[in-house]
Amino acid sequence: MSQSKKIGILTSGGDCPGLNAAIRAVVKCATQKGWEMYGIPYGTDGFIGVHEGRYRPEDLKLRAHGYDMPGLLQGLDILQFLSGSILGSLSRGHPEQEGVAEKILGGYQQLGLDAIITIGGDGSLDIIHDLAQRGGWNLVAIPKTIDNDVPLTERTLGFDTAISTVTTAVYDLTFTAASHDRIMIVQAMGRDAGHLALHSGIAGGADIILIPELVPAVTTTVLDSMCEHISHLRQEGRKFALVVVSEGVRTAAGKREKYIGDYVAEQLRIRSQELCTSGNSTFCGLTDIDTRSTVLGHIQRSGTPSASDRLLANAFGTMAIQLIEAEHYNQLVVWANGKVCSRSLDEVIPCIKQCHREKRCSNPVKPDDMMVLVARSLGIYLGEPIIPDSTAEHASSLEKDCVILV
Ligand code: F6P
Repeated sequence: MSQSKKIGILTSGGDCPGLNAAIRAVVKCATQKGWEMYGIPYGTDGFIGVHEGRYRPEDLKLRAHGYDMPGLLQGLDILQFLSGSILGSLSRGHPEQEGVAEKILGGYQQLGLDAIITIGGDGSLDIIHDLAQRGGWNLVAIPKTIDNDVPLTERTLGFDTAISTVTTAVYDLTFTAASHDRIMIVQAMGRDAGHLALHSGIAGGADIILIPELVPAVTTTVLDSMCEHISHLRQEGRKFALVVVSEGVRTAAGKREKYIGDYVAEQLRIRSQELCTSGNSTFCGLTDIDTRSTVLGHIQRSGTPSASDRLLANAFGTMAIQLIEAEHYNQLVVWANGKVCSRSLDEVIPCIKQCHREKRCSNPVKPDDMMVLVARSLGIYLGEPIIPDSTAEHASSLEKDCVILV
């Protein structure tokens, strides 16, 4: 048995499926080593709670037993299947406010932790990395978010389940679309990244996928191309169509619109009427276009974690414990080239900070992404082709060596 350690774990930022599965994996691995695990409630707010005496350290201990649901599942294992986070999560901590960081650092010290595992997205990782630097914390981070926009990892926890959720919605909407010859617009989450819309659009059989990386704004040119695509489908005998739009796509004026799906539906209806009556034969298939929009919302953050997300959670959790055992800190656990490994946060965080400063996505869909090529080959309209920028800073250097302990 390795030397005993006290390890903290917290979840920060928006929740997603697979957080509890990762917590379970970490607790299972750690308790086998005889280490103590402490679950920090509501992200860094839990440290403030410890500092202010709202939480007693002994109450935060996570054990391998004690979560029984009689007759169903015993012990910790039920966590694999539950969405959300048993620890709770904090969307927006404010350590920059006066006195807040000191309280967080005080709580951490009071617990006397040897290391902290943070499960977070790009925003939380940035904040917690700063705190770790100030407090001298031994930090290991696990990437999570349905947006899949954390740099230097091919996969984040929660992405796969969200793809299934959106795919199911697109598939289910196909039948009502077909019955009414309608154009169905499905708005997917993703913040400024189009990974979720792209993957679920392909898997769900969409005809058009709008993502911010390829269609930054719904301009008249974009609407005309969409109309042409739909007109063509209709002339071939397919009266309905499915459009997936990522929430990061902007209006024609370049504005962020909460219900961009509704905006697309309305603009498409108006423009198709104009084009239909223009006398141009390209658009003669556009008579009686009827559009409807469905905004999927937070349902995309829930649902039983997929098998793939559970596998990822187990691999990420195991790797986090291995890194701590090797005292290899300041690492982000990542998935690259079919393996779990880790990258230094000193490499990841500057990239995130720069993107935040420039208000860009930290890990966007690249124009030559394999799934972009797949979608185009299938005849899905994705906007006009963009020539890949070979100098793009984002070109994630996943090929570079990463630390593999397994
Ligand atoms: O980052 C995850 C995410 O679900 C985004 O896709 C979405 O834009 C955002 O969080 C929603 O955040 P909130 O939970 O604050 O509404």
